[in-house]
Amino acid sequence: MPLVSMRQLLDEAAKGGYGVGAFNVNDMEQIQAIMMAAKETKSPVIVQASRGARQFAEDLYLFRLIQAAAELNPDIPIAMHQDHGNSFETCKSAITLGYTSVMMDGSLKEDGKTPSSFEENVEVTRRVVDYAHERGVTVEGEIGVLGGVEDGHGAGGSGLDHITDPDQAVEFAERTGVDALAIAIGTSHGAYKFTKKPDGSVLKMDVLIAIHKRLPKTHLVMHGSSSVPKDLQDIVNKYGGNLKETWGVPVEEIQLGIRNGVRKVNVDTDNRLAITGAIRKVFAETPEKFDPRDYMKPAREAMKKVVAQRMVEFGQAGHAGDYSPIAIAEIAKGYKDGSLSTQPLVAAK
Ligand code: G3H
Ligand code: 13P
Ligand code: ZN
Repeated sequence: MPLVSMRQLLDEAAKGGYGVGAFNVNDMEQIQAIMMAAKETKSPVIVQASRGARQFAEDLYLFRLIQAAAELNPDIPIAMHQDHGNSFETCKSAITLGYTSVMMDGSLKEDGKTPSSFEENVEVTRRVVDYAHERGVTVEGEIGVLGGVEDGHGAGGSGLDHITDPDQAVEFAERTGVDALAIAIGTSHGAYKFTKKPDGSVLKMDVLIAIHKRLPKTHLVMHGSSSVPKDLQDIVNKYGGNLKETWGVPVEEIQLGIRNGVRKVNVDTDNRLAITGAIRKVFAETPEKFDPRDYMKPAREAMKKVVAQRMVEFGQAGHAGDYSPIAIAEIAKGYKDGSLSTQPLVAAK
């Protein structure tokens, strides 16, 4: 199956009332782990690469690996997505490579750290939407700012620092025409999201619900959605790691989000923890080993387990065969003739 439009994947998820995990990759083993999980659970999937990942793996290596995944798994719809694009040029280069979706994270300036103004965000996102839609490529925008920093990307601070304003979200969607919208409702990137066990009020669900009511056709995206499970932390620490006590987003909260319009759920940290724990275990238990396959294989398996579990929890499991891919050129026509427009929005408040 060729790579699929993320818009199609999310439209189908909306019809079926489920969420789709978007898992970050940097190398072959992570891509394989996702595909093994997708195959086992019969799930459509979003694979995403950050700027750091594209740099680490080199664009062409990474993209060819994704193409291999698509060729080897003809029954699995896969969308390839640029995570946290920081500029028009970053998004354009992903589109040129063949990514079927890009995130223009205009909530931050091009340095990926400083919060931008609303007008700057609208302007750069609109430019990416025009360019991408002409080519049948999906666009995710962001309004409000996530907490935390990953690999130098992020505004830092707590997830509660810049919660999305529903009025701004509506205006942003109207003026940019994005297919999907990342909103800040209290999550943050990385392992250190909450310093105490979160209760049912960790996420600003009222904000999410208000936005979904007013933007029913715009797919909502939850970044920073790792659950940072205690068992994964414990394995890392048991075998010489030094993670401080921390809590992530409870899966039930994500499921509540999914019942209220969240269609794309970003997970990276949980997989990082699973991989690191598995590698540390091999190193600690069998220090005589030095063949990378001896630790990469359990690492891949550990990530596969986490991804498969999330696929079931987000509800995408079992949906891989529900639809056939629409050619990207057809998707481009849909944007042009207005049939894929997310407008008009439901009337404001
Ligand atoms: O957005 C955050 C993702 O976890 C990717 O992180 O920029 O370190 O690759 P990264
Ligand atoms: P986590 O750090 O919670 O896995 O979030 C990943 C993410 O949002 C990638 O864009
Ligand atoms: Zn993110």
